[in-house]
Amino acid sequence: MAECPKAFVAGYPVCHSLSPRIHRYWLELYRLKGGYEAVELTRETFPAFVRSLAQQGFCGGNVTLPHKEKAFALAEKCDDTALQVKAVNTLWLEKGVLCGGNTDAYGFARNLDDFVPGWGGHTALVIGAGGASRAVIFVLKQRGYSRIILVNRTRARADSLAEDFGGQIAVADWQSVNKHVGQADLIVNTTALGMKNDGGEGACDMSLPVDFTKARTDTVVADIIYTPLATPFLKQAGKAGLKTVDGIGMLLHQAVPGFERWFGIRPDVTQELRSRVVDSLRNRER
Ligand code: ATR
Repeated sequence: MAECPKAFVAGYPVCHSLSPRIHRYWLELYRLKGGYEAVELTRETFPAFVRSLAQQGFCGGNVTLPHKEKAFALAEKCDDTALQVKAVNTLWLEKGVLCGGNTDAYGFARNLDDFVPGWGGHTALVIGAGGASRAVIFVLKQRGYSRIILVNRTRARADSLAEDFGGQIAVADWQSVNKHVGQADLIVNTTALGMKNDGGEGACDMSLPVDFTKARTDTVVADIIYTPLATPFLKQAGKAGLKTVDGIGMLLHQAVPGFERWFGIRPDVTQELRSRVVDSLRNRER
C-alpha cells in the first residue's frame, strides 16, 4: 500500500457529498496517513479520470450520481453485487486492474441490522425500480425474503428489473400499491420522492401515496433518502405506529468496505460519527 494512500468521491454535482466528512473522520480517528477528496466530473470527463487513477496518485474511490452505471462499464473486474446491481459505487486498483464493487446493498442491510435486529421476513414491498432499488432487492433476496412486490411509476422499468433478477419478484401497478401494504413485513422507499432538493426541483418534494393504516403493526418501514432524515414517507409510517428506519445509516455503512480497501482498517460506524454527519445535514438544512 502507498505510504499516503489517496481516495476520492466522484460525482456531478459533488459539493454536497457527505463522503469526505465520513472518510476524513475515520482517517483522523485511526491516525492514518491518507487523503480523501471530492472530485467533480461530468459524464464527459469521468471515463478519462477513472482510466488514469494510478497516474493521479489515487488508490481508489467512491462513485456517486450520475456515474455509477458508467463506473460499472469501465471496471475490468466487478464483485457479485455490482454484477447483479449493474452499478459500481466503489473503485479500487488490484495490481493495476480497475476493480468495482457495490456496497449500497451492504449498507442497506447493516443499517437495518442496527435498528431492527433480525429484520428478515417473508414479504417485502419495494417502491421504485432504479439503481437503488436493485441494490435493495439484491440484499432482500440474500436475507431470505421469498416474495418481493415491486411497484414503480414506470411499470416497464419494474418489469425489466424483475426479469433481470428472475423469480420471487411480483410487479404490481403503481396505483395498486395500497392493496399490498397489509402483506408486507418490510416496506422500502427507493424512489427520489420526498427528497428535499437543494436546487428546488419541485417533483421530488412530494410524498408517496402509501396508506400505512393498512399495514400490520409489526411492519418495518425504511427509506433510503436522508435529506431530510424524517421524510414524509417515514413520518406517515411513524404516525401509523410503525417502526421506521431512516437512510443515513445506509450512507455510513456503505462507506466501510471502501475505507478498508483503500486504507487497510475496517472502520466502525459509531453513534459519534452518526451524530456528526446528522449535524452537518441539519446545518445544511438551515
Ligand atoms: P437511483 O439510482 O437513485 O435509484 P434512478 O435510477 O434515477 O435513481 O431511479 C429513481 C427512482 O425514483 C425510479 O424508480 C423513478 O421512477 P421512474 O422509473 O418511473 O422514473 C422514481 N421517481 C423519481 N421521481 C418520481 C416521481 N416524481 N414519482 C414517482 N417516482 C419517481
